[in-house]
Amino acid sequence: MLSNNLAALVGTVLGAVPIVLADNPIIQTLYSTDPAPYVWNDTVWLFTGHDEPNSDWFTMKDWRLFSSTDMVNWRDWGKMMGVETFSWASADAWAGQVVERNGKFYYYVPITRKGSSMGIGVGVSDTITGPYKDAIGEPLVANGAIDPTVLIDDDGQAYLYWGNPNLYYVKLNEDMISYSGDINNVDLSSFEGHFEEGPWLYKRDSTYYLAYAGHCCAEDLRYSTAPGPTGPWTYRGQLMPTEGSSFTNHPGIIDYKGGSYLFYHNGALPGGGGFTRSVAVEQFEYGSDGSIPTLSMTDEGAPQLAPLDPYARVEAETIAFSSGLSTEPSSDDGGGIHVTGIGNGDYIKVKGVRFGEAGAASVSLRVAAAAGGAKIELRLGSQTGTVIASCAVDATGGADVWKTISCPLSGSATGQQDLFFSFVGGGDQNLFNFNWWQFEKK
Ligand SMILES: *[C@@H]1O[C@H](CO)[C@@H](O)[C@H](O)[C@H]1NC(C)=O
Repeated sequence: MLSNNLAALVGTVLGAVPIVLADNPIIQTLYSTDPAPYVWNDTVWLFTGHDEPNSDWFTMKDWRLFSSTDMVNWRDWGKMMGVETFSWASADAWAGQVVERNGKFYYYVPITRKGSSMGIGVGVSDTITGPYKDAIGEPLVANGAIDPTVLIDDDGQAYLYWGNPNLYYVKLNEDMISYSGDINNVDLSSFEGHFEEGPWLYKRDSTYYLAYAGHCCAEDLRYSTAPGPTGPWTYRGQLMPTEGSSFTNHPGIIDYKGGSYLFYHNGALPGGGGFTRSVAVEQFEYGSDGSIPTLSMTDEGAPQLAPLDPYARVEAETIAFSSGLSTEPSSDDGGGIHVTGIGNGDYIKVKGVRFGEAGAASVSLRVAAAAGGAKIELRLGSQTGTVIASCAVDATGGADVWKTISCPLSGSATGQQDLFFSFVGGGDQNLFNFNWWQFEKK
């Protein structure tokens, strides 16, 4: 009771002063690593690795996908592939990247071969959201090195770079699962000793960029540029200094809706560190000479590009920030992902929700609850902000028996607001599961 009163008091006293809320790292429902963003169909698709909790090594079993159209609210698409996708592999689902060609999506990943060193496998899928299958049945290349990155040049020639601490490339064939010519060992003398691992190859205007992690360990981020896809490379400087309690880092750089973004990872979540990392993002502007400024890790992340529409169905796993939650595959709606691991005090923040002038009258919530007695409090501005609805979640007949509950708003929701779903209930850390929500207009 004391803490509830205190929270209410703090909420009242602080009034309009928001409680400090980070939006970086952008994924909080698991530890995510090695960001590989990809712009496709006007959406940013963020492929990541996944660190196991309480880990003291790079214990990584699967690859994950998230998406956003506003750079702040990220939707979870779950697992894309795992170690078991590759029958010849035994462990280590490390840093990969996806590219599309001729309507198929190719997922290049390093993985430890059974009884051997690391090789680069290729997953393939007809849809960006998977499922991805082993495209070859054996590694594409296998020389013990990791961290593949792929560019399809404007003339159609594709290049695969990889390596740590050496840097290699091959020319990929049009099928994207074989290559021509030799494995080339890049002369690193022009990198001035800065290259370590995690290469990220892309082209902007007529300049080829290679961003990478430098200086193991702790790593920073650096970059080089070249007039062609195979060099000669010129060292250009530091992208991001060593920061943020992870001794590794990994760049992923895109342009999206007129802005430029650097994705990276750090150890900023609770329990975070070198083996429990989290993906974050910063916006930046290129210099007129194509240079990239040195960026610092921030708690704020990127600005929101567009408000979120609450009158269309929104997946509950669309999250700007959250605490205490996880996600899992859903039995609802023929598949997809739902939010689970819901305990008392956990919350979801959805940023920049446009309720409009007339505002909302009610909200529909898709839930499955084994036991009743919990509630979802919808609040504006912060997790202790004004309550606009308090919705009881009664037992639905099981944790996979789904029901849509309708809940009238007791407070006014108009304009554009950060919306918080605050979960309330006794003891149990699995109060109910939550699949989607949708507001109805006044
Ligand atoms: C592309 O995005 C639009 C808008 O979100 C969506 O309706 C459509 O299904 C997407 N297309 C594909 C092929 O995923």
